[in-house]
Amino acid sequence: MRTALYGPDGFFVRERPADHFRTSAHSSHFARAIGTLMVDVDRALGSPEVFDLVDVGAGRGELLSGVLAALPDELRARTRAIGVEVSPRGDTTSPGIAWRAELPRGLTGLLLATEWLDNVPLDLARDGSYLDTDLHACGPLDAADAAWVERWWPAPPGEIAEIGRSRDEAWADAVGALDAGLALAVDYGHQLGARPPLPTATGFRDGREVVPAFDGTTDITCHVAIDSAAAAAGEDHLLVRQREALHRLGLDGARPPLTLASTDPAAYLRALAAASELAELTTPAGLGSHWWLLHWTALNPRTIPLLHPSDDLRSR
Ligand SMILES: C[S@@+](CC[C@H](N)C(=O)[O-])C[C@H]1O[C@@H](n2cnc3c(N)ncnc32)[C@H](O)[C@@H]1O
Repeated sequence: MRTALYGPDGFFVRERPADHFRTSAHSSHFARAIGTLMVDVDRALGSPEVFDLVDVGAGRGELLSGVLAALPDELRARTRAIGVEVSPRGDTTSPGIAWRAELPRGLTGLLLATEWLDNVPLDLARDGSYLDTDLHACGPLDAADAAWVERWWPAPPGEIAEIGRSRDEAWADAVGALDAGLALAVDYGHQLGARPPLPTATGFRDGREVVPAFDGTTDITCHVAIDSAAAAAGEDHLLVRQREALHRLGLDGARPPLTLASTDPAAYLRALAAASELAELTTPAGLGSHWWLLHWTALNPRTIPLLHPSDDLRSR
C-alpha cells in the first residue's frame, strides 16, 4: 500500500486527488464552517500574533484556499497557512500558502486532516498472521500489531482485521505538533463493536470506485478505526459526526422559502444551490456520517462552542 501510493510511481506522487474523488474539502460551505471554527479557536487562544493554519495531506490546497477566503481580514492577515503534502504540487500556484513535505512542530492554531488517515498505509491480519495483497498469510504479527488487534479489532477466526496502529501513530504525531490549539481529523471510520466484517480496502480512479490495484494506478483507502486513533492522541478529545458538527457551526441546509423565488429569483437559485451542497455534506448515508475527531491542547474547550457537547456525544 505504501509503495503503491507513495513510492516513486505511486498514485499520490503522480495524481491530483481532486481529479479522482470529491471530498468535503472541495466545498466552499465546508471551508466556511472551518473558518467559523478557526475564529473560535483564535479567540480561545487570545488572538496570537501568528495563527498557524495547517492542513496535513492538503492535496492541492483546495481547503486552505477556501478557509483563507472565508476569514475576516484581520485574522487572515495574522494567519500562516501551511500545506503539508508528500506529493509534488506540479505547477499549482496557491497564493498565501507555504508548502512543506514534513509536518512542522511547535504550532499555535488549527491543524486539519481531511481524508488523510484513510490513506495512511496499513497491514491486514487474519488469525495472527499478516496477509499479502492476494490475502495469503505471510508471517506472524509482531507483538505491537498483535496487541493492537487484540485490543481494538478482536476479529473472530477466519475474519480479516485492518491494523490501524499506523493511523494511531500518524494522528498522535500530528496532534503532538501543536503547542496550543485544536487538531481536527475528518474521515470515514468505525468503532469497536461495529467493525466491518469484510475488508474496507477500496480503490478510486477518475471519480469511480474500482478494485484497488497495488501498481500505482488507483487510490487505495481503508476506513479508519477512529476510536483507537482518538485514544492514541490523548484524553482531551471529542468525536462527533459531520452532520452534527456542521449543524453546531451554523450550517443547517434548510431550503430557502418559496416566496423568495418570486421576490428575488436569482437569490432563490443561489440559496437552493447552497442547500443542495449542504445536503451532500450532511446526508447520513454519505459525508454526513463522516467522523470529526477533535483534540485540543493548551486551551479551554468551554470557550469553543463546537466543543460543548452534550454527554451522549462524548466519545469517552
Ligand atoms: C485522500 S487525499 C485528501 C486530500 C484532501 N485533504 C481532501 O480532503 O481532498 C490524501 C492526501 O494525503 C497526502 N498524504 C498522505 N500521507 C501524507 C503524509 N504523511 N504527509 C503529508 N501528506 C500526506 C496524499 O499525498 C494525498 O494528497
